[in-house]
Amino acid sequence: MGNINCVEKKIERIVKRSLVPEDPIHAKNTLEWLLKLEPHVDNALKIAALGHDIERAIEKRKVRREDYREYDEFKKAHALNSARILMEIMEECKVRKELIEDVFYLVSHHEAGGNRRADILKDADSVSFFHINLPYYFKRNSVEETRKRCLWGYRRLPDKFKRVVAEFCYQNKEVELLVRSCINGSE
Ligand SMILES: [Fe+2]
Repeated sequence: MGNINCVEKKIERIVKRSLVPEDPIHAKNTLEWLLKLEPHVDNALKIAALGHDIERAIEKRKVRREDYREYDEFKKAHALNSARILMEIMEECKVRKELIEDVFYLVSHHEAGGNRRADILKDADSVSFFHINLPYYFKRNSVEETRKRCLWGYRRLPDKFKRVVAEFCYQNKEVELLVRSCINGSE
């Protein structure tokens, strides 16, 4: 258990320093959604939820959108990069090999899913994007770009989570209108 603690502390320290202000909140919030979807969450899923976006917090290692033609390609590279960084952290903390491999699989598949557990992580992350990240994303990006991101995120949600997200309210009226139009136009 000491090793898991070591991993969590290292993830927290890195994510806290991220230049993306919502990163630490989103990491914890993804874990909270995960716990709602899977109350008996295991250590691998827990580490994966906290660290799935870790590469975004490391300026000199993060992948950049402009280097990829397709958004899905960028997301795939982002997932793999986070998985590699987490593997290094887990090795430093002397985590056992099976757990490292499990976390690596989960995080490298957190954007596309793959098996039941990777799909749960993907859904928790996707719901958390709407819960936490979207208003921050809007501040950094154009209306059109935010709308595209909203559509991309909403379309990949299973119906039951589409209903959860449709209940969210946003303080910023522009964001609220944008999300409404994205949801209504998503069919
Ligand atoms: Fe995420």
